[in-house]
Amino acid sequence: EKCVVAVDGPSGSGKSTVSRRLATAVDGVYLDTGAMYRAITWAVINGGADLNDPDAIAKIALETELSIGTDPAAPHFAANGTNVDEAIRGPEVTGAVSAVAAVPSVRKHLVALQKAIIAGHPRIIVEGRDIASVVAPDADLKVYLTASAAARAARRSAENSADVAATEADLARRDKLDSSRAVDPLKQASDALEVDTTGMGIDEVVAHLLHLLNS
Ligand code: CDP
Repeated sequence: EKCVVAVDGPSGSGKSTVSRRLATAVDGVYLDTGAMYRAITWAVINGGADLNDPDAIAKIALETELSIGTDPAAPHFAANGTNVDEAIRGPEVTGAVSAVAAVPSVRKHLVALQKAIIAGHPRIIVEGRDIASVVAPDADLKVYLTASAAARAARRSAENSADVAATEADLARRDKLDSSRAVDPLKQASDALEVDTTGMGIDEVVAHLLHLLNS
């Protein structure tokens, strides 16, 4: 039967790792909506758009052909035929993605793509910021993963082998940008279950979500 799980939360909350593991456990697919915003941002930068010009951003964003991988073991992304798996995790894209994701027509375009992908897969774990509230309001399970700012920075800096203090500052900067939009699309859906992963290991979080899904 159809099974859609919405996983929202801020950077470093463990969303990606947990969502991939959960998708594998239920023999489903995995959709990283953040990677979609990142891939579009890569194309916008590559196209030379002025990041202060929403119309220029929107024009490139809507012309970009995205290839969106949903295999939890290898979720590869391409934009206009170029693989962007590494580039979308780099500082240039990370520095610009919040501005691109704030453009309403970009969000409208990507949300429509996300809904179509969800409709095409019987079992899917969808990860992002506005999944429970906007993308998949009818999801079978909605969770909001959190963790302390220090724990989130520690996880992210371990992934990137970057400085913890600089990472914590960057996460705080993006959290602020992401949550200060006029209409906040990242607001926690009121019916999402909050899971604080600060002291939890990945296995523990995945087991907890599987338990919620089966109960
Ligand atoms: O890597 P991290 O967990 O920090 O973020 P991500 O999931 O890769 O998303 C990168 C950025 O995309 C976020 O900072 C948001 O600005 C934006 N985003 C969004 O607006 N809506 C989503 N559903 C997912 C990401």
